[in-house]
Amino acid sequence: MKDLSSLKNLPHYPVMLKEVLSLCVPQKGGQFIDCTFGSGGYTNAILSFPKTKVIALDRDLHTEEFVNSTKKNYKNRFIFYNQKFSELDKVIKDDTKVDCIIFDLGISSLQISDLSRGFSFNSKEKPDMRMGLNYLSAHEVINNFDLKTLNDILRLFGEEKDSLRIAKNIIRERKNKLISSIPELVTIIKKSKKREFKKKINISTKTFQAIRIFVNKEISELIEGLISATKLLKTGGTIIIVSFHSIEDKIVKFFFNNYSKNKSKGSRYYPDLDGEQNLFENYKNKVIKPSEEEINLNNRSRSAKLRFVTRSQNDFFYPNEFKEKFLHYLELEKKHV
Ligand SMILES: C[S@@+](CC[C@H](N)C(=O)[O-])C[C@H]1O[C@@H](n2cnc3c(N)ncnc32)[C@H](O)[C@@H]1O
Repeated sequence: MKDLSSLKNLPHYPVMLKEVLSLCVPQKGGQFIDCTFGSGGYTNAILSFPKTKVIALDRDLHTEEFVNSTKKNYKNRFIFYNQKFSELDKVIKDDTKVDCIIFDLGISSLQISDLSRGFSFNSKEKPDMRMGLNYLSAHEVINNFDLKTLNDILRLFGEEKDSLRIAKNIIRERKNKLISSIPELVTIIKKSKKREFKKKINISTKTFQAIRIFVNKEISELIEGLISATKLLKTGGTIIIVSFHSIEDKIVKFFFNNYSKNKSKGSRYYPDLDGEQNLFENYKNKVIKPSEEEINLNNRSRSAKLRFVTRSQNDFFYPNEFKEKFLHYLELEKKHV
């Protein structure tokens, strides 16, 4: 693999690429699914090994340029679908079973740096935050939802402790005039927050994260994506997932641990399943984090956590407890205007 500093020149720095490659072992060849193509950092690194095939998905059509250049370089070994990964098992038909499925969650540097898309609190544009294939934008969310729903979104998806004050101020402001630009939203957040000194993160980070998660239904996507991926994996195949905030990590950890033989530790949160009722082998509850060197080259990687799991030989069964455990998030994401 190229040395890490050369990755800095890519449009999006592929987080923990070295670690991903050492887990998915493309040297051996095989069939891979990249659920979050972005600018194709992982996909192209895998395809650089001769006997590999990659099926890639991304919900964002702005990835087109990178999709086309990958198609040009690897005509017969690369297929792309502009689809959400919750649809994985509908997109990939027949009895295709693959060696490795990779998720690199969240937004790409391309999305955040395109200020017209309204993901960044530095944007002057309309709050939008749609990655693609959505039905609601951030503008519709903040200008239409009632106090309870707005508060729940900020509290649950942003873990924002001043959620109620922010939600109340959003509603008060929009009575006079719709909130139609990011600076207007940022001003409301600043006004609502107690002064916080020595905070490492921007005062708007949690609110923006919460709205973005809601707009893109990121929790439902993750849960459905993990279930679909489990269906499509060969025995001995690997799911690799890179997540960026605690809600995602909590969900991934529960899924891998709860459906594994020899769970990492007994807990009332992980009830024992009967005999062979498991989907994965010996999950070690191991979290891989980026090296100091990578964090220095790409500060965005600092919050990344990589987890991986191996598919057992048992037939797929529907993991009922999984959705039940996170129903509060799923119900909230279903709210309509
Ligand atoms: C962090 S970036 C991935 C970067 C990629 N690994 C690379 O090396 O360039 C995440 C990408 O996943 C896409 N994405 C996020 N959620 C998705 C979903 N539910 N279905 C499909 N694509 C999704 C985003 O549009 C974005 O392009």
